[in-house]
Amino acid sequence: MTPKFFSTRAHLLVCQGQSCQGRGSALLYRALWNHLERDALAYYKKGGSLRLTESGCLGACSYGPTLCVYRAQPGGGGALEQAWYAAVDFPLARRVAQAAHDEAPLPEDHRYGPE
Ligand code: FES
Repeated sequence: MTPKFFSTRAHLLVCQGQSCQGRGSALLYRALWNHLERDALAYYKKGGSLRLTESGCLGACSYGPTLCVYRAQPGGGGALEQAWYAAVDFPLARRVAQAAHDEAPLPEDHRYGPE
């Protein structure tokens, strides 16, 4: 049996380390998951393009919840773009996801990396 291939435009990771969980990252992950489902942004939905995964510590424990996103740089000839965010709430996570899906510039607020 051959696994079905789904195309992905971007991959979002929400930290589930202890410090971020203490700041609500489990709820943030669930809310973002529900949003990707509801608005058909998840990679397995028709027209969807985003993967979402829980991650371990992303190295900004005092400023969680943290989120990072990786995507092919729009018009970048295959270059990888990454953005890391601290103190993420649902509205910001939603904007990051929408920008990643739309291949639009990623939000700059709360961004802490890469340098
Ligand atoms: S626990 Fe989330 S960044 Fe370290």
